Amino acid sequence: MNLHGVKVLITGGTSGIGLKLVEELIREKAKVIVVGRSEEKLQLLSQDQQINSVYACDLSNPQEVIRLSEKISQHHPDLQVLINNAGIQHNILFAEATSTSELIQSEVNTNFLAPLLLTRGLLPVLTKQTQAVLVNMSSGLALTPKFKSAVYCGTKGGLHIFSKALRIQYDPQTLRVIEILPPAVDTPMTAGRGRKKISPEMVAKKTIHAITNQKKEVYVHKTKILYWLNRLSPTLAQQLMKQFK
Ligand SMILES: NC(=O)c1ccc[n+]([C@@H]2O[C@H](COP(=O)([O-])OP(=O)(O)OC[C@H]3O[C@@H](n4cnc5c(N)ncnc54)[C@H](OP(=O)(O)O)[C@@H]3O)[C@@H](O)[C@H]2O)c1
Repeated sequence: MNLHGVKVLITGGTSGIGLKLVEELIREKAKVIVVGRSEEKLQLLSQDQQINSVYACDLSNPQEVIRLSEKISQHHPDLQVLINNAGIQHNILFAEATSTSELIQSEVNTNFLAPLLLTRGLLPVLTKQTQAVLVNMSSGLALTPKFKSAVYCGTKGGLHIFSKALRIQYDPQTLRVIEILPPAVDTPMTAGRGRKKISPEMVAKKTIHAITNQKKEVYVHKTKILYWLNRLSPTLAQQLMKQFK
């Protein structure tokens, strides 16, 4: 797919990987719609004449997500690409006192329920186009969990299987489902932790390449090794990942 003139909606386009993706999409001359939480960051982005439109939505609130998809369907009946990128990660142990039910709900809603509801709400518009693409930003942690962030790993594992499930429900001529599985990336999400992180630019470029080159599952950088290790010896892969906090 050539992205020139194609309308693309990206969630979490105000920071990290999403922000770099917005820059790449603009370079490809796509018409970019950005969804984010912070009104202030969206306001700043909207000053760029190359951005088509911005929408504020708290994706952890399912009712807001449903309203957003209704609004987008009305305002943008020509939407061709949806990128479910927004996400949060609470780097805590499941039974820690800070791991409250509110925190668990907001992580599950943002990382898993929101992509499902947004996809469901926008499918009628997407599948009307001659070519439509859905991109889900999951993680290497969808394959093998690390020590902390059990909820995060669970949501990414869910998104991984959801992407596969949708891929078998739709003919790729109607809807092409792409999943991106990055390793640790140097963004505000991972500030103060992790080592040897890759740049968000690298993930953004791989994502654009996946959209324009008919890719399905994209194992970015070190995630490729994890994929093969997990296939050869899941026990070894788990031993390795356990050390990452
Ligand atoms: N960084 C990594 O190491 C890594 C690795 C693998 C996968 N990923 C995945 O890549 C995606 C992007 O992560 P990132 O590292 O770029 O994170 P980031 O820099 O923290 O950016 C997260 C984005 O998601 C938006 N967002 C978060 N909660 C939201 C909510 N409730 N409603 C609306 N928007 C919300 C944020 O908007 P505001 O700025 O307005 O809050 C921001 O634009 C996530 O799905 C993450 O799981 C990241």
